[in-house]
Amino acid sequence: MTLEVHLDADDLTRTLKADVLAGLTADPKWLSPKWFYDARGSELFEQITELPEYYPTRTERQILTDRAAEIARHTRARTLLELGSGYSTKTRLLLDALTTAGTLQTFVPMDVSPTALAAAAARISADYPGLRVHNIVGDLTRHLKHLPGGGDRLIAFLGGTIGNLVPAERAAFLSDVRSVLEPGEHLLLGTDLVKSPQIVVPAYDDAEGVTAEFNRNVLRVLNTSLGADFDLDGFAHVALWDPEHEWVEMRLRARWPMRVTIPGVDLVIELEAGEEIRTEVSAKFRREGIEQELAEAGFALDHWWTDRDALFGVSLARALPTA
Ligand code: AVJ
Repeated sequence: MTLEVHLDADDLTRTLKADVLAGLTADPKWLSPKWFYDARGSELFEQITELPEYYPTRTERQILTDRAAEIARHTRARTLLELGSGYSTKTRLLLDALTTAGTLQTFVPMDVSPTALAAAAARISADYPGLRVHNIVGDLTRHLKHLPGGGDRLIAFLGGTIGNLVPAERAAFLSDVRSVLEPGEHLLLGTDLVKSPQIVVPAYDDAEGVTAEFNRNVLRVLNTSLGADFDLDGFAHVALWDPEHEWVEMRLRARWPMRVTIPGVDLVIELEAGEEIRTEVSAKFRREGIEQELAEAGFALDHWWTDRDALFGVSLARALPTA
């Protein structure tokens, strides 16, 4: 097992500071969803994936269960690269199928969290003897160029996390992915689909309040890592459907006027009662849209799979030769 680090703690703190400065001095204010995932945030996200209202994880898992063998046959991948792998139980479905197909040699998980990577990689190494596991600590918007070459690679980006990127970021990301691949290599992409807001919104505003805790956790991250004094009780969780962009937004709404000091970035901010900080966009997709975005980045959509209720989509795309 090997570990390659492109993002150390200092680098991460620098990026966090730049993000916080930009977002909290903007109007309206925003914070990047990247910062939800400290140990507590990752744990809360794991809890979210088990909630009755949160359909994406279990639906994608079902699609992959049904299609893993087909994915293995179609790609004959020797290397599986997984972006933003986190704990990833779904990865095992792919590892199993590619092992059965007899093609898999190397697994390369990439994540911003070294602790999540190390824990998952240790378990995977133990369960897949003979599999080479090469961990990369990196940010998928900056460090894709460090992914190892080799041919017959499959890049997996699951969970619908691509929905955290706005369209321009998505285009840049997909063309980065295309540029690290050779023609004929594959991308497996999970995307949550456009559906009734009556289904989408509760997935981001569950009855138990786990998502609300997850949302507020980003403020705790700023308190811990930048010495900020956000009063978490002063913020209400908001989830809303934006029909124009076809995405869900999560926000934190100040319940009363506040002044917050953030020593780590030398910043004092004022919030009015009712003022909101946007903490996440989670875009929902349609097949035509995905197919077009993939085509614009230089991919052909070889397979498109959904569950029977068309809640979630999994695309298997092939890198096209560049013109
Ligand atoms: C991990 C980005 C796919 O957008 O559904 C879950 C994160 N936010 N509940 C998503 C999330 C609120 C999740 N992704």
